[in-house]
Amino acid sequence: MRPDTILIFDFGSQYSHLIARRVRENKVYSEILPYDATVEDIINLSERLNIKGLILSGGPLSVYREDSPKIDKRILELGLPVLGICYGHQLLAYMYGGVVKPAERGEYGITYVNIVKPVGVLEGLNSRERVWMSHSDAVYTLPEEFEVLAYTDNCPVAAFRHKNKSIFGVQWHPEVIHTENGMLLLRNFIFKVCSCQQNWELGDFIKRAIDYVKDVVGDGKAVIALSGGVDSTVATVIAMKAIGKRLTAVFVDHGFLRDGDLEFVKEFFGRMDINLVIVDAKERFFNRLKGIVDPEVKRRVIGEEFIRVFEEVAERVGAEYLIQGTIYPDRIESGFRRLSDRIKSHHNVAGIPSRIKFKAIVEPLADLYKDEVREVAKRLGLPDEVVHKQPFPGPGLAVRIIGGVTPEKVEIVRKADKIVREEVERAGLHKSLWQYFAVLTNTLSTGVKGDARAYGYVVAVRIVESKDAMTANFARIPYELLEKIATRIVNEIPEVVRVVYDITNKPPSTIEWE
Ligand code: XMP
Repeated sequence: MRPDTILIFDFGSQYSHLIARRVRENKVYSEILPYDATVEDIINLSERLNIKGLILSGGPLSVYREDSPKIDKRILELGLPVLGICYGHQLLAYMYGGVVKPAERGEYGITYVNIVKPVGVLEGLNSRERVWMSHSDAVYTLPEEFEVLAYTDNCPVAAFRHKNKSIFGVQWHPEVIHTENGMLLLRNFIFKVCSCQQNWELGDFIKRAIDYVKDVVGDGKAVIALSGGVDSTVATVIAMKAIGKRLTAVFVDHGFLRDGDLEFVKEFFGRMDINLVIVDAKERFFNRLKGIVDPEVKRRVIGEEFIRVFEEVAERVGAEYLIQGTIYPDRIESGFRRLSDRIKSHHNVAGIPSRIKFKAIVEPLADLYKDEVREVAKRLGLPDEVVHKQPFPGPGLAVRIIGGVTPEKVEIVRKADKIVREEVERAGLHKSLWQYFAVLTNTLSTGVKGDARAYGYVVAVRIVESKDAMTANFARIPYELLEKIATRIVNEIPEVVRVVYDITNKPPSTIEWE
């Protein structure tokens, strides 16, 4: 069945994923496309998807700049309903002949918008709406065939529609939670304008994923890199159900694992009928990291060494196929985000194969968001411990030690991490948090322990809420809990004299410190 689908054209906004997720939250499938996708791409996609509407995302550039990204006009002529958001709103106005120029005053954050005509995507909205804006350009005039639906003090055309076609633009961001009636606006577009059916269900996903792996691998052999995280665990279980003992799961202990990671994998998969290879590569990784302080170099070196270890096993077992737990945001990030900066190189995203040639790479989870993977984990009957596991970066604790990595420092951050996890989980907060961990800073500080001067490390505690890691807020957890964590860390880890809590959001900070 081809699910009803909304395609999102990505003009480089940090929120493109959020739009896609919001659509899926309504049980309607969505995919993100690069802004320069062609009509042919759309036609090809329609073999698999029943495309019902297009959303043009926000983006950092100005539409009137020569080099700014534009959508192929032929796509707009396909007759599909279109909703432009922020840059997408300006782009539609501009491409149809309206005037877009720098606003006299930009609007950033909460803004009040006056709705003059609550029709189309604005149906049911109040005459004054609290919305979230972030723009320095604005639409000033519209061509004949368009009409203004809303304005603000600084933005004469905050929303518009085409008089006879299903084309809408809104300057604000309905996808962010700060826009009070944002979901209503999106639902108007999805259901009233595009007439989508709610037919995106995870229901038969597991069966489809197993069939897909069976189909590609046939009677061949495959390997999978297993980290014990929710994505690779779910992918491994699916692959195992598909090809049984022709699968080899490879777990690489690079020395930067958390307390209990290795034991979990041994214990959990030990109960299953699976080929599991555990490689103790600690010494190799520590040797490679000697003298390295730059976070990106660290990531690259760890990534390379990981590939080497993995290749050695894959060659040994003679696997022709590589199965990966890549999920949708990974696919998009590494695929075609032409406009967004490379913020960090995530090693599992760069892709494992280098020298060894696989017949094919199989990614059964490549269409799913993290919360959807968790749902699949639940449906597979995996325990809560797996379903609610917090994400952990491929390079592990090495990127939670600022600067040089030594076994002693890993030991310190590992102990601190264990305390943070224990306390957060004991307080029962973990299910509502995205991540909670400790970072070993390279700052030394003075303290007093047992009446004597102590000089030691500063540990930072990072606890964040997030939906998909693209944006995150520091968690407002109770002071008492923070105090308990801090007290335990300084008492139980002699090398640490001070604990600080990270109260920055993403953006501008990233979740991990390196
Ligand atoms: P940042 O720090 O960029 O992280 O805000 C976003 C999410 O990605 C995780 N992360 C990684 N995951 N390999 C991974 O598999 C990596 O190199 C890596 N770096 C960051 C991070 O924990 C957060 O969930």
